[in-house]
Amino acid sequence: MYNLLILAGDGIGPEVMEEVKEVISWFKDKRNLNFSVTEDLVGGIAYDNYGTPLHDKTLKLAFDTDAILLGAAGAPKYDDLPFEVKPERGLLKLRKELDLYANLRPAMCFDALAEFSSLKKDIVSGLDLMIVRELTSGVYFGDPRGIMDDNEGGRVGINTQRYTTSEIRRVARSAFELARKRNNRVCSMEKANVMESGVLWREEVQWVGDNEYPDVELSHMYADAGAMQLVRNPKQFDVIVTDNLFGDILSDAAAMLTGSLGMLPSASLGDNSPKGLPRALYEPVHGSAPDITGQAKANPCACILSFAMALKYSFGLLEEADLLARAVEQALANGVRTPDLLQIEGKNPATTSEMGKEVINCLNDLS
Ligand code: IPM
Ligand code: MN
Repeated sequence: MYNLLILAGDGIGPEVMEEVKEVISWFKDKRNLNFSVTEDLVGGIAYDNYGTPLHDKTLKLAFDTDAILLGAAGAPKYDDLPFEVKPERGLLKLRKELDLYANLRPAMCFDALAEFSSLKKDIVSGLDLMIVRELTSGVYFGDPRGIMDDNEGGRVGINTQRYTTSEIRRVARSAFELARKRNNRVCSMEKANVMESGVLWREEVQWVGDNEYPDVELSHMYADAGAMQLVRNPKQFDVIVTDNLFGDILSDAAAMLTGSLGMLPSASLGDNSPKGLPRALYEPVHGSAPDITGQAKANPCACILSFAMALKYSFGLLEEADLLARAVEQALANGVRTPDLLQIEGKNPATTSEMGKEVINCLNDLS
């Protein structure tokens, strides 16, 4: 029995999650996989209903489940809320409390979509890289933080970039482990030329490489140069490991290389629970997309592919994960596409549920 907690959240989150539920049902019916699904609220919708973006009872469910599937958190109507109750805090609290320190953000370019990249087709076709972003520390969480009076009549805003040896080493290990299953190369990114935390980052990643993964090729780049290389020649990378803030920025850039944010999944992993499965949260990279909410335009593929990552990383169901990824690829190749992927003359865009249904059709065809 595999326990899933679905937190569809805000914006297009519930719309794309509906399609994931269909996919879950398909695996239950056709593959005899025993999924038990619980649902609750996170983000703005949780604030509206519970007065907090992450209720304690939801956090308890999160600790008790095997894997969390999250849609999105945030919407413009919550912009003026105080920081502690903004929808995003729900997401950040889940990451922090469950200690989901390794955020895996793959950037793959599907053949059917290479023409949608803002880069030339030959630079991105066949692209397959993995960004491992540290997710529970760094400037997102460091103290001191806040906005205070500077005692000269003005104010000062403070955030603190802070990393410890163990925080750096554990996320480095996640990156090296992944590299061993891929093309055996890790590139670590920081700003060791200006930040002490960057110097420590570089030294500790090197230490893990030298002592534990001498078989994996390790290189280092300053994050700004890394950003430049990502758009110049992205295929040079296999696994990139970087801190929370640089990872946030670099992963958005890497995502766009592939043609659409609407295609990219992510996994946030921690250490194993008492049951022996990793603490894990899976979510699409695209966010709540207020501009298209409620219009049946959202692309469900990123959320569906996030479930494929859950099959793989939480439950070790490699064959099923691969089948689902191939079904998404086939659906696109069949020309069924939501508006974010449609630049073909004379074709009508698919709605969110039409896209989802085509993935189910392809699952049936491929199995
Ligand atoms: C992301 C998002 C989040 C982040 C926000 C919504 C808190 O941008 O997951 O990349 O900054 O980590
Ligand atoms: Mn982001």
